[in-house]
Amino acid sequence: MIRCGKGLTDMRNRCILVTGGAGFIGSNFVRFLFETEPAIEVVNLDALTYAGNLASLGDCLNRPRHHFVRGSITNAELVRLLLQQYTVDGIVNFAAESHVDRSITGPQVFIETNVKGTLTLLAEARTAGVARFLQVSTDEVYGSLGQTGAFTETTPLSPNSPYSASKAAADHLVHAYHHTHGMDTIITRCSNNYGPYQFPEKLLPLMIMNARRDRPLPVYGDGLHVRDWLYVRDHCAAIWAAYQRGKPGEVYNIGGSNEMTNLDIVRLLLARLGKPESLITYVQDRPGHDRRYAIDADKARRELGWEPAVTFEQGIAATVEWYQGNPAWLEEVTSGAYQAYYEKMYGNRDRAG
Ligand code: NAD
Ligand code: TYD
Repeated sequence: MIRCGKGLTDMRNRCILVTGGAGFIGSNFVRFLFETEPAIEVVNLDALTYAGNLASLGDCLNRPRHHFVRGSITNAELVRLLLQQYTVDGIVNFAAESHVDRSITGPQVFIETNVKGTLTLLAEARTAGVARFLQVSTDEVYGSLGQTGAFTETTPLSPNSPYSASKAAADHLVHAYHHTHGMDTIITRCSNNYGPYQFPEKLLPLMIMNARRDRPLPVYGDGLHVRDWLYVRDHCAAIWAAYQRGKPGEVYNIGGSNEMTNLDIVRLLLARLGKPESLITYVQDRPGHDRRYAIDADKARRELGWEPAVTFEQGIAATVEWYQGNPAWLEEVTSGAYQAYYEKMYGNRDRAG
C-alpha cells in the first residue's frame, strides 16, 4: 500500500484523487494545486479521450507527488484499487464529456461518463470512506435565462442539452448520496471557462485558432447568445476554496459576472490578433441553443471568501498570448481525428444548411 498522507489533519498535506486531470480545467487545477499546496499528493485518473492530453500537464507529470493513471471513472475495480492503494482523502471529479455540440450528435457516451461514471465514483468513495467528494458541475444545468436575472443555487434545474441533462443527473446523484448516505459532498456550478489548454472545439480556442490560420470564424445563429466568462485559474481557486471550506451537502455557484455576446468575444479576439472582421461567418444555429447564462456567485464570495483575481481583459490577453506561444500543443491536439470532427460539424453548416 502506498501511504499518501492519511491521518494528517492538515488539509494541505492530503491526497486527492483528481479525475479528468489531463483535460482543460483538470490540468489547470493540478498545476494550481502544485503551485499553491507544495505538500499535496495527487492521483490523476484520466481516460485520455480526444479531450485529454498529457502535454497539458507539462512539468506536473514528473512531480514525485503526482501519480497519473490512464483509466475510466466507469471502471469500478480500478477506482476501488486506487482509493485503497493511495488511501485517498478526497475526490475532485472533473472527468466528463464536456462539449454540447458532441452531446447532440452522440449522447450515449455522455450518459456513460457523466452519469454512470459519477455514480461509480460515489459508490466506491462511500465504500472506501473518502472524506469529501467534490463534483465539478456547470451553470448549464439551470437551463437558459431571459434578458435579465442570474442563476442562484436555488434556481430549479432545467437542462436543455444532452450534455447539461447528463450533468444535472450527476448532480442529483451527488445530492442523493449526501441525503441518503450522509456522504460529505460539495457541488460547484461554474459558468463558461477560458484560458490555456482548452481544446479547440470550444468557442475561444476555436476562434483564436481559425483567425490565426485566416480561416472563417463560424458564429452560430445571430451571435447574440450570452455567456458569463471566467478565467480558468479563478475557477480552480474557487474549487479548491469549496473543497477546503465548503459545507457538506452544499452547492456553490462560481462565476465572474462577466457577460458577453459571442459576437463581441469574436470581435475582441480578431482585434487582438490584428485580423479582419470579414473572417466572421454566420452559420446554422445549434439546435436548442441556450440563449443566455449568468451566474450569481454571491454565496461563494460570502461563504468561501473567494473572489476572481483576473479581469476579463487580463484573461483574454493571457489566453491569446498562450495560444500564440504554444503552436505545438495546438498542432498536436488538432491532428488526426480533429479534422474529421471539424468537417462533420462545420463542413456543411452554411445558413441554408
Ligand atoms: P475537457 O473536455 O477539457 O476534459 C475532460 C477530461 O476528462 C479529459 O481529460 C478526458 O480525457 C477526461 N475523461 C473523459 N471521460 C473520462 C472517463 N470516462 N474517465 C476518466 N476521464 C475521462 O473538459 P473541461 O472543460 O476541462 O471540463 C471539466 C469539468 O468541468 C467537466 O465536468 C465540465 O462539465 C465542467 N465544467 C466545464 C466548464 C467549461 O467552461 N469548460 C464550465 C463549467 C463546468
Ligand atoms: P461553447 O464554447 O461550446 O460552450 P457552451 O455551449 O457550453 O456555452 O460555446 C460558447 C458559445 O459560443 C455558445 O453560445 C455557442 C457559441 N459557438 C459558436 O457560435 N461557434 C462555435 O464554433 C462554437 C464552438 C460555439
